[in-house]
Formats: sequence, C-alpha cells, structure tokens
Amino acid sequence: MDKAELYGELEKQARALIAGERDPIANAANFSALMWQTLPDINWAGFYFRRTGWLVLGPFQGKPACSRLQMGHGVCGTAAKQCKTLIVPDVHKFDGHVACDEASNSELVVPLLNHGIVTGVIDVDSPSFDRFDEVDAKGIEALARFWEVSSDELR
Ligand code: SME
Repeated sequence: MDKAELYGELEKQARALIAGERDPIANAANFSALMWQTLPDINWAGFYFRRTGWLVLGPFQGKPACSRLQMGHGVCGTAAKQCKTLIVPDVHKFDGHVACDEASNSELVVPLLNHGIVTGVIDVDSPSFDRFDEVDAKGIEALARFWEVSSDELR
C-alpha cells in the first residue's frame, strides 16, 4: 500500500468509527488511536485545543505530553497562530520547539478550523528525521476537515 492509499484507508476507517457520534472529544480520541495504529514510524499523535491564548492537550496516543503550549510558540503554537500546516523535517532546528518526547525528530502540525478560526491542532511526531511530506500533510488535513464537520463545537 503506498502512502496515498494508506491515508485513503485512514479516512475510510475514520468514517466507520464516527458512526453518527458528534462528541468532539470522543471523535478526537478515536482519531488519535486510528493515526497511532495506521501510520508507520510515529511516536506521538494527538490533538491540542485552543483555550484563550493556549493550546491545551486533548486526546492523544504516545508518551505523556506537555499539557499546555503557548499560542505562537513552538511548532504547534506557530501553526495555530499562522493558521497553516507545518511540516518540520528536523525539530531541533525549529526555533522554540517544545520537546515533549525527546525521541521526536520531525513533526507535522495541522490546524483545526471553525469558520476560518483556529480551534486547535492535530500534531504528529516521528523519531525519524524528514518523516513527513505533502502526502502526509494532505492526509492529516483531510482527517482534520472530517473531524471538524463530524464533531460538535468544543465547550
Ligand atoms: N513539539 C510540539 C509540542 C507538542 S509535542 O510534540 C506532543 C511543539 O513544539 O509545539
């Protein structure tokens, strides 16, 4: 299975998992588990949700992580502030990178949106350098768009 097919499969499984559920936490928890079991060579996959100036840890798989990240700082905070997907081939070269798991060497962060406003991010980390490319970005963006339309607003 090539990478594009892998993400096609991921989305298919995500659709099956949702099964009419609209709770944002339940869906984020299942999507994290799905990324974790489907994507090779990753050591962390999960959600952070925006809370007044911060990104607060949501459902995830991997080692325990920082509970709170500052908007505009680190990879997640920068992606959220710039409202832009970030592919970071070497996290050690990213100014302000927050090392939650020291095994992480590359990272992909995709903002979650509600009417163009950033409400959080999906973050995926890998122990390999240069693990993520445009295919990964498009695949996780598709998952983010699906989570947004399938889940009620977070309160
Ligand atoms: N590395 C991230 C922090 C989150 S952990 O990787 C799970 C960052 O720099 O924002």
